[in-house]
Amino acid sequence: MEPKHVPVMLNEAVNILSVMPGRVYVDGTIGGGGFSKEILRRSSPDGFLIGIDRDADAVKNVQIELEKEFDKKRFKLFYSNFSKIDDIVKESGFKNVDGIILDLGISSIQLEGDRGFSFKEEGGLDMRMDKGERLTAYEIVNHYPEKVLADIIWRFGDERHSRKIAKKIVEFRKNKQIETPLELRTIIKKAVFKGRGVLRIDPATRTFMALRIFVNKEYDSLIEFLGKLKDVLNIGGVIAILSFHSGEDRIVKNFFKNNPGFKSLSKKPILPSDEEVRFNPRSRSAKLRAFCHV
Ligand SMILES: C[S@@+](CC[C@H](N)C(=O)[O-])C[C@H]1O[C@@H](n2cnc3c(N)ncnc32)[C@H](O)[C@@H]1O
Repeated sequence: MEPKHVPVMLNEAVNILSVMPGRVYVDGTIGGGGFSKEILRRSSPDGFLIGIDRDADAVKNVQIELEKEFDKKRFKLFYSNFSKIDDIVKESGFKNVDGIILDLGISSIQLEGDRGFSFKEEGGLDMRMDKGERLTAYEIVNHYPEKVLADIIWRFGDERHSRKIAKKIVEFRKNKQIETPLELRTIIKKAVFKGRGVLRIDPATRTFMALRIFVNKEYDSLIEFLGKLKDVLNIGGVIAILSFHSGEDRIVKNFFKNNPGFKSLSKKPILPSDEEVRFNPRSRSAKLRAFCHV
């Protein structure tokens, strides 16, 4: 069976956009299309959706899915980075839009595929969301100097064992290149887990996250996007951002804290319900922040 992505906090995120007919919305991370579909349904009959994803497969598949349910004239999808939102909105024929949603990170479809995002035997150490980019996780773990590796794992993974992990990686690759995600996971596990105690998460989780963020320059895209926001979002329009780890949430929180042009729509970030976390464990680390352009 083809892997599917279960959208996280779908209702909360789309509710906060106050989607209405006749308005224009951007889903900057279409993934499996869950948010896009809901926006098109709620803005029926004449709302317009601009969808973006840096994964060409996601764009192709969501195009097919949306065409099954909606008039093609109501949406336009782009294989691109949401950091290019200004050009994309212009190319779609609009000056501004009424609501934007970003659901950061990777989809379950990407996670379960063979691009090296999860600890699998098969597939290489790739981790690119956009196969058009050049840098892969393979290049980093097999060729970057130990100090740089340690810094990446520390900065983007908040991994306190970053130095030990980098050292073990460099030791291993003296004999043989690291080829598969499973091989990398085994090296990391040996570096940090002494076989005592109970593990809450896999010891390789933080390192894999760090590599993914670095390969895809995820923070850079988010920062570039935020810098363009006031020029593309109408006054009264809403930006909603779902983040899955502290590094990206911090970027979002600090940007809006220092920006008087936006008013927060909730005192605290909105979190998934206990029921959602039980049903979809991937949602457990999600935080939704939403702001109105004033
Ligand atoms: C968590 S999934 C989105 C799931 C989607 N909301 C749904 O309901 O199916 C994240 C998606 O965002 C894409 N993505 C991540 N960073 C991006 C960026 N800077 N520009 C465009 N797409 C990005 C990924 O390729 C992935 O498909």
